[in-house]
Amino acid sequence: MSQTRMTALVTGASAGIGKAFADVFAKYGFNLILTARREDKLRDVATALEAKHRIKADVIAADLADPAAPEKLVADIRSRGLQVDALVNNAGYGVPGAYGATAWNDQKAFIQVLVTAPCELAHRLLPDMVARKKGYIINIASVAGMVPGSVGHTLYGASKSFMVQFSRSLHLENEGTGVNVTAVCPGFTFSEFHDVTGTRAQVSKMPSYMWMTAEAVAEEGYQAVMRNKAVHVNGNVNKGIVLLAKYLPDSVGLMIMRARSKDVRAQ
Ligand SMILES: NC(=O)c1ccc[n+]([C@@H]2O[C@H](COP(=O)([O-])OP(=O)(O)OC[C@H]3O[C@@H](n4cnc5c(N)ncnc54)[C@H](OP(=O)(O)O)[C@@H]3O)[C@@H](O)[C@H]2O)c1
Repeated sequence: MSQTRMTALVTGASAGIGKAFADVFAKYGFNLILTARREDKLRDVATALEAKHRIKADVIAADLADPAAPEKLVADIRSRGLQVDALVNNAGYGVPGAYGATAWNDQKAFIQVLVTAPCELAHRLLPDMVARKKGYIINIASVAGMVPGSVGHTLYGASKSFMVQFSRSLHLENEGTGVNVTAVCPGFTFSEFHDVTGTRAQVSKMPSYMWMTAEAVAEEGYQAVMRNKAVHVNGNVNKGIVLLAKYLPDSVGLMIMRARSKDVRAQ
């Protein structure tokens, strides 16, 4: 195995879009550091991708809801003598229910996993990328971050809007440094997401043209960060939705979301 390979750290690599990103980065010759909570799943992914792409895959299990996790993860990576050339901030889920009816600790953990941990990982890993004049940061956002808010999963869209805007700023700040930063915005994607978030019954009613595979999302995301695109919306249907949302008056957008929320969110 080559010592000169670059290495990609993928969060939420035990399933869905993260697992697909790990596959794509390995296909293009990156070694991997895979993280999520389920170590057994991560080890299965690592073994399969090492055999498939003849790369090296390290596994570091971590619960990103723990505020100490990002610092510890980066320390573990360094203590193994590894460096991170590409960061894929992907781990995520949704908290069902109306905001006031949920437990604050669940919302707090959500913000930690979907907002604070990705920001901290980028903050801790970016300086070395800049020093090496090469690096890639992908923040997995969502179409949900680019359309009006919806009922239920209240902080989900807000967290994804945050990731889009954070990525845009980081992208601009790093122009000329050799570090590419991209927000990737998938729409409905086949993964474990809708089982975990309790929305499987609702989203099963969505027409098939609304759906993409995790593999297609990851391939597009990889190509987008290599081209240093600030924001990439996956697929033509999602691009159309985002374009429409941009030009609709907010009141009309909210009216549509009021009517459609029950189709996509557990409330
Ligand atoms: N699927 C969609 O329709 C869709 C659309 C737009 C955006 N997205 C975004 O895409 C990303 C990936 O979602 P997915 O669809 O691939 O969902 P998924 O299949 O449910 O995978 C989610 C991943 O996040 C990890 N994760 C969840 N909580 C974690 C925690 N506390 N600490 C560490 N890892 C954690 C899970 O691993 P463990 O359970 O092993 O920890 C899993 O690997 C998310 O950011 C999601 O918001 C998804």
